[in-house]
Amino acid sequence: MDITLPAFTPVQESLYLTLCGRALDYRSPRPILGDAMADEIVRNLHYDCARFRLSASPIINIALRAKKLDEVALRFVARHPEAVALDLGAGLDTRMFRIIPPPTVDWYDIDFPEVITARRQLIPDRANAHGVGTDLTDPDWLDAIPTDRPAVIVADGLLAFLTQEDMISLLNHLTSHFPSGEVAFNGYTRFAIWAVKHYRGTQSVADLIKSPGFDDPREPECWNPSLELVEEILLTREPEVAEFPLALRLLTQLAAHSAALSRRGTTVLHYRF
Ligand SMILES: C[S@@+](CC[C@H](N)C(=O)[O-])C[C@H]1O[C@@H](n2cnc3c(N)ncnc32)[C@H](O)[C@@H]1O
Repeated sequence: MDITLPAFTPVQESLYLTLCGRALDYRSPRPILGDAMADEIVRNLHYDCARFRLSASPIINIALRAKKLDEVALRFVARHPEAVALDLGAGLDTRMFRIIPPPTVDWYDIDFPEVITARRQLIPDRANAHGVGTDLTDPDWLDAIPTDRPAVIVADGLLAFLTQEDMISLLNHLTSHFPSGEVAFNGYTRFAIWAVKHYRGTQSVADLIKSPGFDDPREPECWNPSLELVEEILLTREPEVAEFPLALRLLTQLAAHSAALSRRGTTVLHYRF
């Protein structure tokens, strides 16, 4: 398949890093997420994931945090078949195809217009799937989404690209738009932000990072009183660690003893409102 995608800005290009993470996880001997579609998209684009020089650890992190966000969304739509689901900064992720929500759920993938155009070229359409092309810092994009249904909102790899003010304002718009719901995203501690800026595998996004990060998972409750922390998921303590390659497994199991150390890696933060 020969595909010519729209020209992407550097921030939009960051989607290749996570897409490649999932594709490389799929190609690994013991996949954590097993996302065949990510691999198919990479192959259709002839995209060379080797350019990121990703080692096992970031590949597994990308795959595992996607899996945890999938689980939050899946549980929510199972309990609320009338829900709307939002994937903020969806990139070329095909979360909806991993979850397969009930047909009564309306699923919204939201990203810049160029990315949504690319999604239309690469990802099969579904009757209950909608792409919204917008800058998420523009408050008007929510006008396109129903207001009267419970919502599950996930954001994978997005928040590092937003200033803290933009993130707070986005959360405020979301929680006032829907009657109730849940929101989950991979958290970036201050250390994690420092690491993204300095780690070799994330050099392609280092200069694009705007978030300072935050260490206390309860901090968003102070920004927005309607948010209540459901769970801070420390990836080091998840059962999938047993599937990690030996050296990484041992290191991760060691880090799991300390919440502070675990927060230096990837966390998934899950709130209700
Ligand atoms: C690291 S990628 C993650 C993509 C996808 N969630 C995934 O896991 O593959 C970050 C995504 O956030 C999008 N993004 C960043 N800032 C945005 C903004 N202000 N408005 C809309 N999308 C944004 C980028 O275009 C990109 O697709």
